[in-house]
Amino acid sequence: MLKSELSSDQLLTIIFDYMAKISSEKSLDRVLVRMADMGREMIVADRCAVWLIDESKRELYTTVAHGVQEIRIPIGSGVVGHAIATGEPIIIDDAYADPRHNADNDRLTGYATKSIITIPFRNNDGSVIGAYQAVNKLTEAGIFSERDLELLSLAASYAGMSLESVMLHQEIVDTQREIISTMGEIGELHSRETANHVRRVAEYSYVLALRLGLPEQEADKLRTVSPMHDIGKIAIPDSVLNKPGRLTAEEYELMKSHTKIGHQLLRGSRRELLLAASIVAEQHHEKWDGSGYPNGLKGERIHVYGRITAVADVFDALSVERVYKPAWPLHRIEQLFREERGRHFDPAVVDAFFDSLPQLLEIRHRLADDEPGDRR
Ligand code: C2E
Ligand code: SIN
Ligand code: SIN
Ligand code: FE
Ligand code: FE
Repeated sequence: MLKSELSSDQLLTIIFDYMAKISSEKSLDRVLVRMADMGREMIVADRCAVWLIDESKRELYTTVAHGVQEIRIPIGSGVVGHAIATGEPIIIDDAYADPRHNADNDRLTGYATKSIITIPFRNNDGSVIGAYQAVNKLTEAGIFSERDLELLSLAASYAGMSLESVMLHQEIVDTQREIISTMGEIGELHSRETANHVRRVAEYSYVLALRLGLPEQEADKLRTVSPMHDIGKIAIPDSVLNKPGRLTAEEYELMKSHTKIGHQLLRGSRRELLLAASIVAEQHHEKWDGSGYPNGLKGERIHVYGRITAVADVFDALSVERVYKPAWPLHRIEQLFREERGRHFDPAVVDAFFDSLPQLLEIRHRLADDEPGDRR
């Protein structure tokens, strides 16, 4: 059942059709299938697959397309691995005569691969993020040509861009889901701290980060993640967390474990945001002079997110009444920050604190707790 090459009119029609379809897809799986369909039609191949890189498992994988189940192979292996590693396209006329071809899959499925064309594609930064691979040319010639290479490259350059935007979108959606479910857990948190505590800490951190000269993007990231600094408190028993009055030495040791626990809860994620959150959870009680916990980190060994959140957190803890202490008047808070500059706190962050105090007080006022019903 041989087919003929497409005319340029037919090609244009295919390209326009698929570009419209692909750019309106939001799910990664469907974009991949459409891209595979487009590649197959354009160059008259029997099958086409879009391969992506799974960095965490050091594998290449392709999703379902053209009768083929998801396949995973080690990074660098097979024809497709070669193309991705070198960034160069590959055309093979007789797969079984080529040592780069991995015939395992054919043996499993009984499919006979003959000709192969593989073209890596790149994201907007120019990094290779995957490859097109088409198998078995269906024309009489039976092999892929330079023209196929040009056509598929065209598809690949477009696919690389649209794929990246879909992947970014997916990343955002996944991140939000993770955060929402994690925040749900905090919702059940038995702490008496008000919901506004985390909001205030977020806004204080943002203001301090900008004042310190961090880029807007970084400040914004910190604002998103700093509310999760105390997430490890979900593991602290109610009797300790809400104890009216001072903690015993033993109870305080337990309390301190909220940093490690928060870090452990969040660190499993590869998502950039949750990784940042895990840093804040772990490091917000470290002290500039090295006397903090859990790791006794010193100076700039403490991530700047941790150093900023420390000031924001203590400012808020002292500003409001806690089960174990009354609210402090502002002059006492200021005195503490002056005394602890260079001891508990990074001097630069304390300077940023005093420089932006009017703004911080405005936030404190705007996000004040309603007394007393707002308490959980
Ligand atoms: P938190 O209430 O959010 O307090 C955060 C941090 O603010 C404290 O970290 C500490 O650095 C500062 N801070 C809070 N209150 C005071 C204070 O009265 N004086 C001074 N100088 N600093 C204060 P820290 O000490 O590592 O405590 C971590 C968490 O342990 C606290 O979070 C709170 O949940 C709990 N905690 C600490 N001390 C007590 C206590 O005496 N009784 C109870 N029930 N909980 C306590
Ligand atoms: C197939 O195997 O036919 C799909 C494309 C590929 O795996 O290279
Ligand atoms: C390869 O690229 O050689 C491995 C995948 C395949 O051809 O089925
Ligand atoms: Fe804490
Ligand atoms: Fe806190």
